[in-house]
Amino acid sequence: AKRVISGIQPTGDLHLGNLLGAILRWVRMQDEAECLYFLADLHSLSEYMDPQLRRSSVREMAAALIASGIDPDRSILFAQSAVPAHSELCWILNGTARMGWLNRMTQWKDKAGKNREGASVALFDYPVLQAADILLYQATHVPVGEDQKQHIELTRNIALKFNTDYDTDLFVVPEPFIGGGTAARVMSLRDGTAKMSKSDPSEQSRVHLTDSDETIAQKIRKAKTDPEPLPDDPALLDGRPEAKNLVGILAALSGESVDAILGRFAGQGFGTFKPVLADALIGLIAPIRGRLDELRRDPAELDNILAKGARRANDIGAPVLAKAKTALGLTA
Ligand code: TYM
Repeated sequence: AKRVISGIQPTGDLHLGNLLGAILRWVRMQDEAECLYFLADLHSLSEYMDPQLRRSSVREMAAALIASGIDPDRSILFAQSAVPAHSELCWILNGTARMGWLNRMTQWKDKAGKNREGASVALFDYPVLQAADILLYQATHVPVGEDQKQHIELTRNIALKFNTDYDTDLFVVPEPFIGGGTAARVMSLRDGTAKMSKSDPSEQSRVHLTDSDETIAQKIRKAKTDPEPLPDDPALLDGRPEAKNLVGILAALSGESVDAILGRFAGQGFGTFKPVLADALIGLIAPIRGRLDELRRDPAELDNILAKGARRANDIGAPVLAKAKTALGLTA
């Protein structure tokens, strides 16, 4: 059977990249499979964060996921730290993962930059915890944006090596499930060569779930473009990263192909295109923002949902952890 898992770091607001690259696809997968979705609060320990902010971010992000369409009755929604088996399995898999594998991770290289000596051990070990998140539930499919593909491939390698080393078929080798089309990598509104990211210091670079309609329209008006009109052929968007990104976002929002979008806008400038894009974004985000406002009013209910999710997740994960320990000769 198909089992889906994915997580998101509870740092900052959900942005359009998260939504198109991951969350809206998480929502759709609820119709086809058993789904587990979690707030990766343990992953957030790889960088300093104010504890109060961490606590409130978990709730806030849970509310944002529910507002976006994650149904906590159908899906298992929980905070990673509430299921201790994630940490325990991470330590176990640290015995399987190789330094060389982790050294090749582009997220590690990007985030540590030149300051490797000063980076936390957790930042380096981050992908092993991610492997534990996935393997703990014997998940078959992991819906993520393009930027997480390398981590899922590492997870596959860890699963294969563990299974071979200990002569078991305990760990299911998962498939990355990356959206086709233009949503897999949403780029910054200020720079079409950089990914839209919560760590970008410029608020103008991304659209948040919590942005008002006016803010969304303003961010799109100010989004970087070039002076050329839109072409009729998608190939002509190459070398025009900002134009390509905006067209790609509209395609993802409307479910049309890039070809079809260009069919409508070829020969026209961004003065015509941008208001259509802004309206489409507001159409997606305004109702989610409304539900989020409702959900925030009942933090106790959010805590209940997360507590129930953690119990359900633990029921699935605990036997797998026990089998891993037995395979290793540990007292399970
Ligand atoms: P995170 O919190 O950075 O992002 C959550 C999800 O959003 C996707 N995403 C994007 N997709 C398209 N375009 C973008 N600009 C963009 N920015 C973010 C990410 O690919 C991701 O799917 N390491 C993970 C969290 C994690 C996880 C896991 C995921 C922890 N354990 C186990 C899957 C399975 C992360 O930091 O995602």
